[in-house]
Amino acid sequence: MTCAFEVEALTPGFGVKLTGVDLESAIRDPAFLKDLRSLVDSRLVVYAPGQKLSPRALQDLAASFGPPANIKWAGYDAHHVPGCEWIKVISNGLAPDGKPYGDGNASAQIWHTDATWEVPVGHVAFYCRQTPEPPPKTYFKNMIAVYEALPEETKNRIARLRAIHHLYPKQIEVKVHEEGPSLPRERRELGFAHPLVRRHFGTDKPILYLPTRRDSVIPGMSDEQAHALLDELWSFAQRDDFSIGVPLRADDVVLWDNRACVHSRDGWPEDQTRIMWHVAAFGEASTPMFPRQSLNVIGLTPEAASKVLLGEDAAY
Ligand SMILES: [Fe+2]
Repeated sequence: MTCAFEVEALTPGFGVKLTGVDLESAIRDPAFLKDLRSLVDSRLVVYAPGQKLSPRALQDLAASFGPPANIKWAGYDAHHVPGCEWIKVISNGLAPDGKPYGDGNASAQIWHTDATWEVPVGHVAFYCRQTPEPPPKTYFKNMIAVYEALPEETKNRIARLRAIHHLYPKQIEVKVHEEGPSLPRERRELGFAHPLVRRHFGTDKPILYLPTRRDSVIPGMSDEQAHALLDELWSFAQRDDFSIGVPLRADDVVLWDNRACVHSRDGWPEDQTRIMWHVAAFGEASTPMFPRQSLNVIGLTPEAASKVLLGEDAAY
């Protein structure tokens, strides 16, 4: 069986709307999953409105992209979806028993990548269950396109840099972003170091892979230098022509490449409830697009290799 489907571009180079397919059954078809993977690799965001998905199918959709990731808030008592450990409910609402439906609130969020851990989350899907009207938009930005548009001088300057993505609670909320105090440098050095220019295995193109916090540490730079560079790169990325906004209504699915896209969202009135099911899959460890060259000491004695690595061998 091969599932037919129709694809409509959301912008000329980024994002597609997928129709004419029932994802609940299509995800059982390996040929469809292969096509879907290709579509996500090339277009980065797939929006599939009006789907009737069971919790199990949503989890299986994520698992088709990689090992499922648990990204629920630590230590927070919320309902989520009983029996479905990989679905995180994002909501600002309270269930009739007074317990939150899931993690979250109604705040607007800044551009960010989800879970840039040692092995980052590679793909994310939302399945909307309930939303205020008009629905707040979720926005996606193509960071491959952002990188391509950077001035050559900037590309050269950042080619081999890394940034440490430290863990800062609720850093994606606008208010925390604007007002959250910086942490001591030793605390900001505890995160995961990722290349600023990451290889995208879907297309083999470079991604501008930015930490959310502008106070992130860039090894080899002072805090002032790193802050100025991250501000410069994020300011460049703010241009609207790299972005799309999707209003998600009940039964809409959106699936995206969390390696190559950053996302954000509108906020909405606190007294209105949005309920979103969220699944995520780990990708690969981040790979620098322009790795430093390693010295080849294969075949040398340990003593000779030490001299090379210490820079004491004039031949290297
Ligand atoms: Fe997010």
